[in-house]
Parts: sequence; structure tokens; C-alpha cells
Amino acid sequence: MAADAAAQGAPEVDWDALRARAIEVMGRAYAPYSRFPVGVAGVVDDGRVVVGCNVENAAYGVALCAECGMVSELVATGGGRLVAVSCVGRDGEPLMPCGRCRQLLWEHGGADCLLLTPEGVLPMSAVLPQAFGPDNLSIAAPPA
Ligand code: THU
Repeated sequence: MAADAAAQGAPEVDWDALRARAIEVMGRAYAPYSRFPVGVAGVVDDGRVVVGCNVENAAYGVALCAECGMVSELVATGGGRLVAVSCVGRDGEPLMPCGRCRQLLWEHGGADCLLLTPEGVLPMSAVLPQAFGPDNLSIAAPPA
């Protein structure tokens, strides 16, 4: 990322390396039904990298998106916040996460998490505008 971004407090991210990790894990996707393998890699705020690939099922609707696997690894290996994410399809080019997975990224990365998109690096606030998130639950009714 450019020095400008670093100056504004954004994390320094090696996007080429992160996309390479996403491409590597995309190669291990289990996608015999759609034949649409997806890989995703994310940098956590403590510096570790978590990855995921899609895992389909004969019951088509049960398919797990790549982002589900990545978020599971995130939580299972100690949690933290996602600061940068690269998602790719078969061609290795940036792939926009589906709506459900944007919600997953919002939960674990928030508005400032950066995503490598076909239009360049964008914050989640641009990818999921006016998102519903944990803050909305602060107005939940108290327990009866
Ligand atoms: N898929 C993902 O893994 N992530 C996304 O964000 C979009 C879709 C997968 C699900 C399914 O296995 C295949 O791509 C085709 O929809």
C-alpha cells in the first residue's frame, strides 16, 4: 500500500503476498458442484494470516463460502480483528465476497478493514455501506 495510506493510519499490507496466499488456498477448494473455487486470505491485527476456501456439499445449499472457513480459523486460532482481506476466484483475480460474507467480514473487521477489490483497495465501509453490525444491538431490549 502507498505511503499515503500508511500516513493516514492504515496498515502496511503486502497485497501481492496476501493474494498469493488466497490463490494457494483456492487451489484446495472443494467445489465439485459449481466448479467455482474460491480462496481468501486475511491479515489479523496481530500480524498472523488466516485463510479459507469454499467447501461445497451434495446438498447444494449447505456449501460453505471461503470466508466462512477463514473466519473460523480466525476465531479458532485466537481471534483478533481482520485488517486486510484478499478474495480470489479461479483466475486469481480479486473476487467480491457475497453479501453474507461481507457481513462476516464486517463482524470481524469492521468499517476500516481493507478489501482488495476489482476496483482497488477499498474499506469495508465502502463495500457494505450503512451496515448492520454489533453496534446496532446496543439498543436491544433488556432481558425481561
Ligand atoms: N463463494 C465463496 O466461497 N465466497 C463468496 O463470497 C462467493 C461465493 C462460493 C460458494 C460456492 O461454493 C461457489 O462460490 C459458487 O457460488
